[in-house]
Amino acid sequence: MAKNTTSDLHNQFANKAQAWSARFSEPVSDLVKRYTASVDFDKRLAVFDIQGSLAHADMLAAIGIISADDKAAIEEGMAAILDEINQGDFQWSLDLEDVHLNIEKRLVELIGDAGKRLHTGRSRNDQVATDIRLWLRSEIDIALDLLRQLRHRLATLALEHADTILPGFTHLQVAQPVTFGHHLLAYAEMFGRDAERLADCRKRTNRLPLGAAALAGTSYPIDRERVAASLGFDEVCRNSLDAVSDRDFAIEFCAAAALIMTHISRLSEELVLWMSPRVGFIDLADRFCTGSSIMPQKKNPDVPELARGKTGRVNGHLIALLTLMKGQPLAYNKDNQEDKEGLFDSADTIRDTLTIFVDMIGGIRVNADAMRSAALQGFATATDLADYLVKKGVPFRDAHETVAHAVRACEDKGCDLADLSVAELQEFHPSIEADIHQVLTLEGSVAARRHIGGTAPERVRIEAEQVLAKTGG
Ligand code: ARG
Repeated sequence: MAKNTTSDLHNQFANKAQAWSARFSEPVSDLVKRYTASVDFDKRLAVFDIQGSLAHADMLAAIGIISADDKAAIEEGMAAILDEINQGDFQWSLDLEDVHLNIEKRLVELIGDAGKRLHTGRSRNDQVATDIRLWLRSEIDIALDLLRQLRHRLATLALEHADTILPGFTHLQVAQPVTFGHHLLAYAEMFGRDAERLADCRKRTNRLPLGAAALAGTSYPIDRERVAASLGFDEVCRNSLDAVSDRDFAIEFCAAAALIMTHISRLSEELVLWMSPRVGFIDLADRFCTGSSIMPQKKNPDVPELARGKTGRVNGHLIALLTLMKGQPLAYNKDNQEDKEGLFDSADTIRDTLTIFVDMIGGIRVNADAMRSAALQGFATATDLADYLVKKGVPFRDAHETVAHAVRACEDKGCDLADLSVAELQEFHPSIEADIHQVLTLEGSVAARRHIGGTAPERVRIEAEQVLAKTGG
């Protein structure tokens, strides 16, 4: 077999399909090519790949590994490539496996040798880890802003409905009256913790792997702090093996995303329930619902149902990433290429879902009368009667028993506790007096719970204002 000439070898990268192919005597089959390629999905990292390359080139020039001319040529070439990508003119090739090789090949086509010098002191292993971190950091920032907007909408609605009363449930049985504002603020709390989790995950995401090269670092006198600073990373990854290998930051993100969707799913379940004509607490704007092809009367809450459904895939991506990582020896393994699709999908799903929910929560129409009449069923103020007796000196367990008798009597009569006269109530306990009726009303019940974390309208207003102040702008 004829040997490659030196100039053939030099031209290898520019002309041959695969960047590393001089080592190989036969090409991979089309199926293997498709199986091992990632360009179809990792091309969305292109902007970040270019950003990372520019910071790397800048550093190589600063330490004198490449010339200022080379650096300028690389910057010009990358600008042209970015343009081609943005215009949709860039020719992505499966033969070039991934986003990194596609862009590098095009750079060499455009600027020649300067392009071939870019990969000095770097590997795709630290390159891809850098790209993912840059991309994820921007996704986290988008998600944080959406969570802020969602909390703002929830608090706005909560303030409007600080006095609106609905039944609070345990076991989906009427338990005690609560204010709708309080109920909404429960979700504002959940999404607030979700934001904390994302902000925390951002800290560990925002570290620079570049410089780890393939796994062991590089013999060039690289300046990693400079690269970190130009890419806006807070820190440099301190171990090259770890830097190219672990994807724990992505796993953390998927866990945070799974919790966001879990909270969205719980809210969705309530929206669906509240919108059922049997409940009728709320109505969602038509733009979030669809009709039925056969039943003309239907208005289905498709968006919350789908959000509830999409929670499954986001939860699944977390398990997939954990499983991907668990068996890998140090350092980089091709397994890691599988980190992307699930991670991308988690980010896309929370982004779309949160965006829609911001709009949907803003458009909820509340049927306060339906909420109120539901709260009047099921003896929701029974606990208040027991607490009243306790305040009159009756031990709680005895008070509990007394109220159980009263509830039973009401059930037999088909009335509510508040419908009993003072005289009738006194039959159950002599210490009941005329002040009882304000305790047995829904308003009296919620107003009494004015401590931090309670459901009282005055408390809801304080909490809602606080959320609004934190999420304003
Ligand atoms: N496409 C690869 C990935 O996503 C890039 C790194 C490839 N490195 C390698 N040695 N094959 O992980």
